[in-house]
Parts: sequence; structure tokens; C-alpha cells
Amino acid sequence: MIKEANTTFPIHPLIKSRWSPRVFADTPVSDEAIYTLFEAARWAASSMNEQPWRFIYAKRESDAYKIILKHLAEFNQQWVKNAPVIILTAYKEKFNSGKENFHALHDLGLAMGNLSLQAQSMGLAVHHMAGLDWKKLQEIFNVQEGFHITTAVAVGYYGGDPSVLPEDLEESERAPRKRLPLNTLACEGKWIEQ
Ligand SMILES: Cc1cc2nc3c(=O)[nH]c(=O)nc-3n(C[C@H](O)[C@H](O)[C@H](O)COP(=O)(O)O)c2cc1C
Repeated sequence: MIKEANTTFPIHPLIKSRWSPRVFADTPVSDEAIYTLFEAARWAASSMNEQPWRFIYAKRESDAYKIILKHLAEFNQQWVKNAPVIILTAYKEKFNSGKENFHALHDLGLAMGNLSLQAQSMGLAVHHMAGLDWKKLQEIFNVQEGFHITTAVAVGYYGGDPSVLPEDLEESERAPRKRLPLNTLACEGKWIEQ
């Protein structure tokens, strides 16, 4: 299934064609492909070049995968089981100096943007999730103090069959992608009243 963005201005085909599926092809994702995604994330810009992003990944056949799946929001559990790989993302809260890194989440977001577009170039789909019990996962995976698990991310090749999804999810899987109008987001020289 193709769900291209309906853009006002032409954009790069990788950005235009990226979307967040809830079904994936049954093709396994190799370690090399997974590390290629992390390599792309690694080269994102970051405040003070602190690189505050960290990752745990798990493949479907592993115990770690089952544990992560179990600690996702119920809504997410019903579809993430279709994904061959799940990544947990985390950020480091403070600079090496000990000062709070207010921009760490920004930098993790940049890294995930890199990862998402690298994935797109490889035919891999990435679906980010906020719905997870990050506190519990933090405990289970012994994530040390000062780091904060942020999202879970389902990864797999595009091309899954939407009809395996529950009815409501199948409907949203087939629905067109939506965005706020461009002129409500950005403006020259003044803030747009929201
Ligand atoms: C930080 C973040 C958290 C998200 N959390 C969830 C989630 O818990 N469950 C889910 O199904 N989708 C989640 N999404 C996916 C968004 O719903 C999706 O990106 C948005 O609807 C736009 O769709 P598109 O990516 O196909 O353009 C999340 C996306 C981001 C970036």
C-alpha cells in the first residue's frame, strides 16, 4: 500500500512516501540493516555534540521482544506483534558536565528522523510509539539513572496485509494521511495566533 503525502510544495520522495503502517511484510530484518539504521541515527546533529540518544533493539524470536511487547499500551500490543523488530529509544538527561540537557529530546528526535529516512530508503517502515510503560521497561532493562526511555519503535518491511488488523485499525491503515495546513505552522516575522 502506498500513502504518499499530499503536499503543497514538492518535497524529497523519501519524505513524501514515508508513513507509519501497523502491518509489515513477513521478511526478517537483518542485523546489518538494523545497524545501518543506527548508523544513520548516529550521524544526526546534537547540542554540544553530546549524542544523547541510546537504543535497545529486539527481534521477534527473542525474549527481549516478548518483554517489550508485553509492556506496550494494549492498543499498541494488538498490532506491534506484526513487526519483526522493536526498538526502544532513550535519551541522556544531562550533559557530561552535569548540567541538564534541555535539548536532549530534540536531539533524539533528530536521530529518529535520520533513522526513519534511512529506513525509508531501504524499503523499511518505522512506526514510533509513545504508548509504553517506560518506567517498567527502564527497570527490566537496567537502564541506569540519568537516562530516560522515550519511545518504542516498530520496524519491518512495508507490504503487510491490512486485512489482518482489527476493523478500526484496518480503517485507519487505509485512510489518507492528514496534516495541519502549512500556513498555520510557519510565518515570516510573526507568531501565528493558534
Ligand atoms: C513520538 C510519537 C509517538 C507515537 N505514538 C504512537 C502510539 O503509541 N501508537 C500508535 O499507533 N502510533 C503512534 N505514533 C504514530 C503517529 O500516530 C503517526 O506518526 C501520525 O498519525 C502520522 O501518521 P504518519 O506517520 O503515517 O504520517 C506516534 C508517533 C510519534 C512520532
